[in-house]
Amino acid sequence: MPKTMVPKPDGLSTSSGQGHQPNPLREGIESNRVPEPCTIVFFGASGDLFKRMLIPAIYSLRADDILPINFGLIGFARTAYTNDQFREYCKQAAQQDLGRDAIKEQLWDDLAQRISYITADFDDTSHFEALKTRLEEYEKQFGAGNNRLFYLATPPPVFPKIIEQLKKAGLDPASNPNGWTRIIVEKPFGTDLASARALQTEVEKVFSESQVYRIDHYLGKETVQDIMALRFANTIFEPIWSRNYIQSVQITSAETLGVEARGAYYDNAGALRDMIQNHVLNLLALVAMEPPASSDADAIRNEKYKVFSAIEPPAHEHVFDMSVRGQYGPGTIGGEQVSGYRSEPDVSRTSNTETYAAVKLYINSWRWAGVPFFLRSGKRLARKVSEIAIMFNPIPHRLFGEKSDTIEQNVLVIKIQPDEGVSIRFNAKVPGPKNHIRGVTMDFNYGTGFGVQSAPAYERLLSDAMRGDATLFTRWDAVQRAWEIVMPILDVWQSIKDRSFPNYSAGSEGPEAAHSLNPGWRTL
Ligand code: BG6
Repeated sequence: MPKTMVPKPDGLSTSSGQGHQPNPLREGIESNRVPEPCTIVFFGASGDLFKRMLIPAIYSLRADDILPINFGLIGFARTAYTNDQFREYCKQAAQQDLGRDAIKEQLWDDLAQRISYITADFDDTSHFEALKTRLEEYEKQFGAGNNRLFYLATPPPVFPKIIEQLKKAGLDPASNPNGWTRIIVEKPFGTDLASARALQTEVEKVFSESQVYRIDHYLGKETVQDIMALRFANTIFEPIWSRNYIQSVQITSAETLGVEARGAYYDNAGALRDMIQNHVLNLLALVAMEPPASSDADAIRNEKYKVFSAIEPPAHEHVFDMSVRGQYGPGTIGGEQVSGYRSEPDVSRTSNTETYAAVKLYINSWRWAGVPFFLRSGKRLARKVSEIAIMFNPIPHRLFGEKSDTIEQNVLVIKIQPDEGVSIRFNAKVPGPKNHIRGVTMDFNYGTGFGVQSAPAYERLLSDAMRGDATLFTRWDAVQRAWEIVMPILDVWQSIKDRSFPNYSAGSEGPEAAHSLNPGWRTL
């Protein structure tokens, strides 16, 4: 692939973005993928997501020469800011996330003059008309080519209103024939199957599927993208990637954090909705999918959808055999005493919301028939770790090892975070005159393997949406099917209160009952 040349504005030298350091470990690897000129409008720009993730990602994209030179950014939210106040707010947010020294004044000044803000009431169409005028000004001033990316970073209940107002104000794709119009929709896409369908109905009134980018930030993580490379850029794994060699698959996304300031949202969501329905099921799809016909977005998304459609949602009467829920009580994390979920701000003192969910699913296909996929996610657990463990069949016949030795099962672990890499657990002879056997680990680590740190997921996702590459975004059919898979569990959990809550201590491995679902969980 030819290297894309990026013209720089006069007098601007780029930052010390890691792409610019000579790095022998990445020699010959192309990394610049510059999108077309465009303007991004961030709805909800005064909110937490914009501040913590989005504006730092925009600055990093600029510093790494990935942002188009003809670029504009408009914040649109309720909080009253002047343009200058908003620019300062953005700068402080970027400094807070990236470090004061990481922000280069010249680069920031170039970016800042392309940033403006509209204090808005989402119910008032005239504010969307003002946005249209501002976009047209931007397109002249910055040559942003009539290309518009709308990012819905507001609380989800506002999504339908914004979409409706875009249409009323003439900001829909059909009214912009000279450029592209795309919309990024933050998670959660609905709170259950019915509300997801209702939201999709609103989206479809204005946008076609190819213009909609549904975010699941896990798909933007470098290590998650590597799952497909591991499987399909190597020959050694695929022949054993089936029920013939694999006993089970464990997918874990554990956090040590509690609900922080998000009690009001979380108490209506819970771990199944917040993590399993989206992030964890997406990991499952990447592990279980068939090789796609090409690396094209839809070829990949077709295969992911096929995995979901081959999963049978648990019957209502089997929900308690196929799932375990938990809620944390007080406990100790990192030597600090932390309170129980029901004492968190904005959480009901009698809450029945699960902060831990474990689910067993089967994929009804030739490749996976009979292989259990164990999924678990929870807050306030012993360790922050996201990983996929492929557990291989035990040896068929014991030949080596002293009587007292345990011959471990082979395990391939795809480490998503905070460690990033792949490891294989296998058995080896312990040096010495005796025939002792012990499990050992072979480890690949991204940081040392490539000499770079992975870019945050939002950088990749923003640049892909600007470039029109939907591979890492979830398609409606998959979102709908993922809801169908979890709905019976949600229904049963909602209708039957769990009287054992809280049933695990903060800082522990989760509820005891999870071991009856899968006695072989890897220790956190
Ligand atoms: C979000 C959930 O989607 O993912 C949060 O709403 C969760 O509750 C977060 O903490 C986890 O993301 P990460 O990237 O830290 O694993």
